This record gives sequence, structure tokens and C-alpha cells, in this order.
Amino acid sequence: MLIQNESPFIAHVFVCTNDRGGERKSCADSNSQLIKEKLKEAVDSKGWKGKVRVSTSGCMGVCAQGANVMIYPQKLWFSEVSPDDVDAIVTAIGQIMEKS
Ligand code: FES
Repeated sequence: MLIQNESPFIAHVFVCTNDRGGERKSCADSNSQLIKEKLKEAVDSKGWKGKVRVSTSGCMGVCAQGANVMIYPQKLWFSEVSPDDVDAIVTAIGQIMEKS
């Protein structure tokens, strides 16, 4: 039986980790697995666990601009992300948390 609920998260961060193995550009080429791990660590260290969720996503259709990180329901998309950009994304999440 179908159950519909409201998301329990203030922000749900999706990190595309799709890997085409070099066949053509994909987010995995930009170390998106490490990006996801760093975001998860930051969410834990900021005490946002349970309010902010970091999840792996499949392809979001904008592969040439990878790595891609999306935040919902705020509808923020970050493209051409590298592991060095994680702090900027954490700052954006912090701004979302301040407004909540
Ligand atoms: S591989 Fe990440 S958006 Fe397509």
C-alpha cells in the first residue's frame, strides 16, 4: 500500500556519483565519491545529522558539468564541483539551516 509522507529533512543533498568508466564524461571523473564523503563528514561534525541528508544520486542529465551536487527542496544545483569546493557547499547548507 502506497504511503506518502513529507520529507523529514530540511535539506537533502544529492551527489551524483555516476561513473561511465571514461566512455564519456561523468561525475565520477571529478572524484564525486570523495565529495560525498567530505559532505557527510561535514554534516556529522556540524551536528546536522537527521536534518540534512547526503545521498548518492544517479545521473541527473548534466554530466558535462560534473561533478554535480543538488540540494532539495531548495533547488540549488552546484556544477563543476571538486573536493576543494566542499567548504563552499557546506556554507550554503549552513545558510539554509540558519533560515530554517
Ligand atoms: S553523470 Fe552526473 S549528471 Fe550525469
